[in-house]
Amino acid sequence: MSSQPPPNETGTRSSLQYAQSLDSADPLRHLREEFIIPSKADIKRRTATKDAATKNDEAEPCTYLCGNSLGLQPKRVSEYVQRYLRVWGSKGVFGHFTELEDQLTSPWLDIGDDPKVPLSKIVGAQSSEVAVMASLTANLHLLMASFYRPTKERYKIILERKAFPSDHACYAVESQILHHNLSIDDAMIFLDPTESRNHYLPTSQILSLIDAHASSTALLLLPGVQFYSGQFFDIPTITSYAQARGITVGWDLAHATGNVPLKLHDWNVDFAAWCHYKYMNAGPGAIAGLFVHSRHGSKTDPTAADFVPRLAGWWGSDKSSRFRMENRFVPIEGAAGWQLSNPSAIDATAVIASLSVFEMTSIEALRERSLKLTGYLEDLLNSLSWDGRSKPFEIITPKNAGERGAQLSVHLEDGLLEPVLEYLEEECAVVDERRPSVIRVAPAPLYNSFEDVWRFVQIFHAACGKAVAQTSRSGKEQVVASSVLAEGGKDSHGWSEIK
Ligand SMILES: Cc1ncc(COP(=O)(O)O)c(C=O)c1O
Repeated sequence: MSSQPPPNETGTRSSLQYAQSLDSADPLRHLREEFIIPSKADIKRRTATKDAATKNDEAEPCTYLCGNSLGLQPKRVSEYVQRYLRVWGSKGVFGHFTELEDQLTSPWLDIGDDPKVPLSKIVGAQSSEVAVMASLTANLHLLMASFYRPTKERYKIILERKAFPSDHACYAVESQILHHNLSIDDAMIFLDPTESRNHYLPTSQILSLIDAHASSTALLLLPGVQFYSGQFFDIPTITSYAQARGITVGWDLAHATGNVPLKLHDWNVDFAAWCHYKYMNAGPGAIAGLFVHSRHGSKTDPTAADFVPRLAGWWGSDKSSRFRMENRFVPIEGAAGWQLSNPSAIDATAVIASLSVFEMTSIEALRERSLKLTGYLEDLLNSLSWDGRSKPFEIITPKNAGERGAQLSVHLEDGLLEPVLEYLEEECAVVDERRPSVIRVAPAPLYNSFEDVWRFVQIFHAACGKAVAQTSRSGKEQVVASSVLAEGGKDSHGWSEIK
């Protein structure tokens, strides 16, 4: 935080002036200009297009701290997608292979290769270790088809009890276990947070569970950053500990990619998968990404004993022979050998456009900025005053900045969530909620400003104040009502008779 000016030069840390001074001193502040920040009027309007009634004073930006759910749109996505449409419109099928003087992406036959270099820098991989394809859950299934090969001795999967539902019981992991005719009661091993309120999972607890099931576990599948608590797991320590006990290790990086620096190759991770619609800003449901370590992906002879089997498709087969239709699968070396279909070009175009914004900086510089933004959010939340009453919320994300990404999860007192959300919505402060009591607040490293954080905290403070007043008023009414009932008297609603 050394680059931040001392508070007395620019007002107190809790002033707007101070937040603005942090923005002026921020070397990455220009990146915000790359994004479309919805205005308050945009958020409130019931149409996507502006109408004549939009007033000038409604051009004020909303306070968007929801990049953990859906990242905002980079301005250049529109230009890239328009160009794609023009190529399709003017070239038809030739768009697959014709190099154009004004192209923004490779011809569609090679478009899947364009993201590899910029993406590999974000996840810390060799470019051949990443592929852009399909969707996150589909990729987890494809990777488990390769890396979850249960035997009589090793068949368990360790995962967290509070995993995102798509990965969890009933869905990806459970269905994989059932697919192998195994019992989910026996084969699914859950990590349960000791503290149910904050969902924190200490590394030591994860390592102990690995030890407890070391000889019977085939796979460990964990999130890089936990979606609910925002905890950033110690990926290198957990990976090497499990691998040393013969366990294959995969990571769901939905909330980690573009948020925190990763070194998947150096950490020797077996495989990983992620989406591109959160911190990667490529739009809802955008084509996803996966990583396969080179020690697995470099084996390309399907007849060799060390070849990693896979559910193959023609797009994973060698480009030079792909169109010869020889019905012989010759996998491309690396993660690309897991591709099934020709990728959606419009979708890949959005990912490439978004990656070009990441190319304006580095993931390390973004992390530095993110630590400051989230630290500032935490400081402001902790310094709010509550007129003598206790704070009506608790930050459940780890305090240690090394154990979290951009997101802070805020656990509200019982009954406060709905009124708080109502007020935030009224004021166009966009966050997301996990009922019954948590809001997740994520200053995105690429586009949120210190002023966004400051504005959010003002709105949140007022929202909590209102919600507390509202719930204590209704609480008092209930106390009066129940004391009347306890005395056996008649209340104005006739409740005692009903009782
Ligand atoms: C941690 C995690 N895993 C899996 C998913 C499911 O992703 P998809 O719908 O893209 O398959 C999500 C979605 O938000 C997620 O947050």
